[in-house]
Amino acid sequence: LLSEEEQTPRARFGRGGYALPAKYADSVQHVKDFHVRQDDVWVVTPPKCGTTWTQEMVWLLMNDLDYERAKSSNLMERSPYLEFSRLVPDIIKEKYLNNMDTVEFAANLTPPRCIKSHLPKELLPDQLWTKRPKIIYVAREPKDAAVSFFYHEQLFVSFSGEKEFYFKCYYEDLVAYTPLWEHVLDFWKMKQEPNILFNTYEEMKKDLPAVINRTAAFLGKRITEEQVARLAEHLDFKQMKKNSSVNIEANLTKLREQGVIKEEQAFIRKGVVGEGRREMSPETAARFDERTRRTFNEEVGGCPWNI
Ligand code: A3P
Repeated sequence: LLSEEEQTPRARFGRGGYALPAKYADSVQHVKDFHVRQDDVWVVTPPKCGTTWTQEMVWLLMNDLDYERAKSSNLMERSPYLEFSRLVPDIIKEKYLNNMDTVEFAANLTPPRCIKSHLPKELLPDQLWTKRPKIIYVAREPKDAAVSFFYHEQLFVSFSGEKEFYFKCYYEDLVAYTPLWEHVLDFWKMKQEPNILFNTYEEMKKDLPAVINRTAAFLGKRITEEQVARLAEHLDFKQMKKNSSVNIEANLTKLREQGVIKEEQAFIRKGVVGEGRREMSPETAARFDERTRRTFNEEVGGCPWNI
């Protein structure tokens, strides 16, 4: 948990004006120059949209459903978060990453690599658009993504402001990796490309076996009905929550015991659809919905969600 002084100031990056810690300026080009392999699989999402859930699914599909290996090695090592060490404060890099450089770590992973990034299209490595590896993008309904991020920030950076204030910051694109709408729109426009699969958190909640089948087909993997059922069980919310190889909370047990982290705060937290409507004031929810309709319907005449 970070004190106010330890939190880094934000700056805007790229034409889209994406909000990221100012120190990321030193790494933008380095990450854009990352060597992509054609046989990579990239999991790209805005934060809190079901990244971890998708990474575990994709890694298992790529690795012959090797549950033993999945259990014995942390997801951060199996599917590294590309830009992470380049944007966190030094104290986090030191304490939680043993000063590891995640860009180097991803570069040196044994292929086929499964790489996670939250970066928007224009800040991702340039070679993604020439080598064209498979990219699985996951989006989540903006109100729900904002609510999930609110609880995440409370947990990890001890954000103690009012919920409505946080949602206002989110809407004004001040939260890390926002604007969410444009992040999603860029990939929504590319969803017909053969190397891009566009999934949503809501589809995963509604029919996980269908998403598993679709993702397996996209990755060129055969999977039996029994294997789909077992994978869906492994990826079930309750299972994921108690699985310490995917739940980074394992590192936070001490803080929870000390009462620094409250019972209701968690990384794999609630896992439901529709919290935005319950947690936001009707006015804020309406503003979010209006922007969602405007962004998608006006720009491309189709929206990932029924708003
Ligand atoms: P909530 O905060 O709404 O509960 P990310 O991995 O991108 O950070 O996304 C985190 C969100 O995905 C959290 O949402 C978390 O609870 C949810 N999540 C993680 N594993 C899940 C699962 N197996 N089923 C449903 N939701 C899951």
